[in-house]
Amino acid sequence: AADPYRGTGSGGQSGSFVYETGGGSGEEILTVLGAHEGFAGMKREKGFGMVDGETAEKLIKKAMEAREKAYAPYSRFYVGAALLTEAGQVYTGCNIENAAYGPSNCAERTAFFKAVSEGERSFLAIAIVGAGEESSGQYAAPCGVCRQVMAEFCRPEDFTVIIANTAGEYYVRTLGELLPDGFGAANLQKT
Ligand code: THU
Repeated sequence: AADPYRGTGSGGQSGSFVYETGGGSGEEILTVLGAHEGFAGMKREKGFGMVDGETAEKLIKKAMEAREKAYAPYSRFYVGAALLTEAGQVYTGCNIENAAYGPSNCAERTAFFKAVSEGERSFLAIAIVGAGEESSGQYAAPCGVCRQVMAEFCRPEDFTVIIANTAGEYYVRTLGELLPDGFGAANLQKT
C-alpha cells in the first residue's frame, strides 16, 4: 500500500504557504507568508505536516548543500540538515566528527544549536539527507539523541521531519511518530 507520508520528489503540490526568497545578507531567508497567524492558523496538509511539498523540496535542497560541508572522515557517512523556523528562516547543519569519536555532532543538532544560539525557538520542519559516498538511495532517520533535542523545542504533533535520500525522494514523519511518549519539560513540573 502507498505510504501517504511518502513524497515523490517531483514537486507540484499546491500548498497553503507561499515562500519567497528574501534578500538577506549571508544566509538565504525564506519568508513564510501568513506565518503571523501562528501554528493555530496553519493548515496541515495530510502527508506533509507543517509544510507543503514545494517547501519540503526546497528544504531538501538546502540539506543536500549542507551535506557537502559534512566533516566525517571516520564514518564517511555524510549528513546535512535544513531547519525551518516559524518565521521562515532556514538554518542548516552538517555532521562534525572528531578523532575521539565521542564529541562528534549530528547534522540535526548542529542546525538546532545554530538556530537556538541565534535566538530562534519556534520551528516548523527539518529536512535530513544522510548517506555514504556511494549512496544507494538510503535514508537516515534522526538518531535518538537528536529526536530528544527536537522534543525540547518542537511540538510532537506537528513538527515535521522530512527524511530524504540523495536522489531527492523523501518521506515525512511528525516528531511524535518518531518519539512517542517522550520525556520532556512537562515531566519536571511539580504537581
Ligand atoms: N549522523 C547524523 O549526523 N545524523 C543522523 O541522523 C544519524 C547519524 C552522523 C553521526 C556520525 O557523524 C555519522 O552520521 C555516522 O553515524
